[in-house]
Amino acid sequence: MTLANPLRFADLEQVGPGTPSGTYLRRFWHPVLRARDLVPGQAKPIEILAEKFTVYRSDTGVPHVVAFRCAHRGAQLSLGWIEGDALRCRYHGWKFDRSGQCVEQPTEDKPFCQRVKIPSYPTREYLGLIFAYLGEGAPPPFTRYPDLDRPGVIIADPTEIVPCNFWNRLDNDIAHIPWVHRATALRKGRHDYIVPRREIVEETPYGWSNTRMPVSNSGGMRDLSPKAHFFMPNVYQFQHRTRANGFEMRNLWDTKIMWTVPVNDTTLAAFDVTHTPLEGAEARAYEASRSGDQEAESENRWDIGEKILAGEMTIEEIPDDITAYTSFAIEDYVTQVGQGPIEGRTREHLGQTDAKVILLRRMWLREITAMLEGTALTDWQFPVEPLYEILAPA
Ligand code: FES
Ligand SMILES: [Fe+2]
Repeated sequence: MTLANPLRFADLEQVGPGTPSGTYLRRFWHPVLRARDLVPGQAKPIEILAEKFTVYRSDTGVPHVVAFRCAHRGAQLSLGWIEGDALRCRYHGWKFDRSGQCVEQPTEDKPFCQRVKIPSYPTREYLGLIFAYLGEGAPPPFTRYPDLDRPGVIIADPTEIVPCNFWNRLDNDIAHIPWVHRATALRKGRHDYIVPRREIVEETPYGWSNTRMPVSNSGGMRDLSPKAHFFMPNVYQFQHRTRANGFEMRNLWDTKIMWTVPVNDTTLAAFDVTHTPLEGAEARAYEASRSGDQEAESENRWDIGEKILAGEMTIEEIPDDITAYTSFAIEDYVTQVGQGPIEGRTREHLGQTDAKVILLRRMWLREITAMLEGTALTDWQFPVEPLYEILAPA
């Protein structure tokens, strides 16, 4: 079946059930919560892909994702209690096991548990994140990321909840770095960030990869950094010299993976995980320094972002003592939120440096068109070996 009207890029911004992008994204596993933000015996409400769910951790520490509401009269299940690996509703005490099956109706004279089941979703914990498969039927194989499976420090950053459509972040490109991050680069003495750059992008069996070059490079100059890689549909992996306090001046390369997951049409969640090739006592010192600063600063970083967007302060006025990590995050926040929550992308003027944006949109349009027309989708081949060499720390 050929679509009567070809899909346009603006048709890809909605993510709810039944929408083109919503249906496509539900074919993949996604992170839904940072693991350390959920302790054993705790339940939380989450919103992902414009749908609400309950995520809870059993008393023994295993995460589960089930429906948002109780099947009895719709109470919010995150208000309830965890009992072993089951969840009991706060309203009238019905109890649901991890498969969503009702197993107790304490106030019913004639319980009918066997007829009551709430949806439950395959759930996994990996790299400091809780992943779920929210689609229909059996999940695809769980994707692992070999570059992050190696020895080293793994840090899952505080989740960024950003009030704009997920494409604002997926479309972020390499050309923004010397402009968006100029103030932080100058403040932190990182002049390597200020070189204007462009990327050469090519499609790969897993998505795309790029080579990042200075704009003036007509051949001869070295690439700015190792290639970046994109794993369909929403995962970006790259390396950068570490920005952690006390380690910035080392030739220490982090491998970072960023998942951009739509919360709904006008909010995204960014889950970033970083691998740093340190071990032993140095690894523990690095971990303590880095996550201590980031956790503390994550509390009010968006307040600063909103003040900048409102014109009450400038990016140059971001306080000196804020880490490079948080300062970069604020700069990206104001740029992406400043583009508008969901703009339909009808007013753009794309140029040569937007090659990556154009390629990614084409790939999404191609895949989703195939899905809607009922023809074969690309069977993405994700790497099973690391893509990066481990660079020896200086
Ligand atoms: S609404 Fe959950 S037990 Fe009644
Ligand atoms: Fe950025």
